[in-house]
Amino acid sequence: MSGTRPRLDWIARPGAPLRGRIRVPGDKSISHRAIMLGSLADGTTRIDGFLEGEDTRATAAAFRAMGVRIETPMPGARIVHGVGIDGLSAPSAPLDCGNAGTAMRLLAGVLAGQSFASTLVGDDSLSRRPMRRVLEPLARMGARIRARDDACAPLVIEPSPSGLTAIDWRCPVASAQVKSAILLAGLRARGTTRVAEPQPTRDHTERMLAAFGHPVRADREWIGVDGGGRLVATDIEVPSDFSSAAFFVVAACVVPDSDLVIERVGVNPLRTGLLRALRMMGAAIEVIAPDVVGGEPVADLRVRAAPLVGIDLPESLVADMIDEFPAFFVAAALAEGTTRIRGAAELRVKESDRIAAMTAALAGLGARIEERPDGALIDGLPRLRGGHVDSRGDHRIAMAAAVAAQRAGGPVTIADCRNVDTSFPGFVALARTAGLDLEQAAGPDAAATIAG
Ligand code: S3P
Repeated sequence: MSGTRPRLDWIARPGAPLRGRIRVPGDKSISHRAIMLGSLADGTTRIDGFLEGEDTRATAAAFRAMGVRIETPMPGARIVHGVGIDGLSAPSAPLDCGNAGTAMRLLAGVLAGQSFASTLVGDDSLSRRPMRRVLEPLARMGARIRARDDACAPLVIEPSPSGLTAIDWRCPVASAQVKSAILLAGLRARGTTRVAEPQPTRDHTERMLAAFGHPVRADREWIGVDGGGRLVATDIEVPSDFSSAAFFVVAACVVPDSDLVIERVGVNPLRTGLLRALRMMGAAIEVIAPDVVGGEPVADLRVRAAPLVGIDLPESLVADMIDEFPAFFVAAALAEGTTRIRGAAELRVKESDRIAAMTAALAGLGARIEERPDGALIDGLPRLRGGHVDSRGDHRIAMAAAVAAQRAGGPVTIADCRNVDTSFPGFVALARTAGLDLEQAAGPDAAATIAG
């Protein structure tokens, strides 16, 4: 995004045990997909539990710019008047995805088969992230997309002269965004488009396509979608975001005497690797009152403080906890013994290089941590020390640092926290309700204005 935004810093200190019951905002991945499929469906889709974050609002704005009427009857709800699979119209300006990788990669899939030209732009962080992983398969389908330099945004998408053709694509990286981009392009391709993944990744697109009356076909290897069909509008209830709950899960594990319930959280097994990892470390987490909403499993999570021990994190868990590593690094830094993280090089191409960002953050707070190309080696300590963390503009680094501060010997200042609004508006207020000592920093830094 262009323009300037006031910088926002936080100060975090050790707070009280986390107690009571909280609810975190709606799932980001599912909110993006609900706007996209609702827009492409025939009929009216009501979305409840929609994440009012900057990322998901960017997706809604993009579809509005392509002629979709999207109403906001109340915060956290949207009514999407679908235009049908072939009903989008040419936007008059570039579509701004802000900080949202999901918006850009999935939109590339939606736009590849349109009969109009479009341009996708993003903020500085998104403009550095790799797009070749979606451009290659889409080009094989016949899409015409130009990117800057080494396959980065802006992406300029021209209509494909002869339309898209289905492909079979073996994804070299485990990425739900890549899988989803190809499946969405496949909706408008001739034939059956199939994707094989090196490891299963979150299957929200597949579940939601089924809810919109367009089931995907999956066998042990391939996930396939037929082109030429239509989507039927449906109502979507978005569960609370496990990735947002994760910060409170880890905080309640590591702050002594905590006993916290996080209500109605999405517990799709392809998202909850963190629970399995923390349990291996000795965490006391109960999954209670399981239910299903909108084709997705939800449950309450009860987390009580418990001493954690270091583990060799199985590589098979990495994809199922890919967004939870910032929080997991904090748990490891406070566990007894050594935690080894391997096979997680994808963390280097998230909103920031999360291996580097978390290594710097925790080392700055006195943790014993060694960066590795595809992970880290962390020797836990009973407590950290106060200090300064640069979030690098990454929402999840900022929130992880606020959790780490709950076990620090002095105040922790956390710089550049504005992007927490991309995924977790209201984090500071909710964290304070739960027991964390966290506030916006005053002083010259807070007033500084930076290019955003
Ligand atoms: C997402 C997939 C993951 C995840 C991101 C959301 C999605 O990205 O990190 O936050 O909604 O499909 P990758 O596909 O790059 O792994």
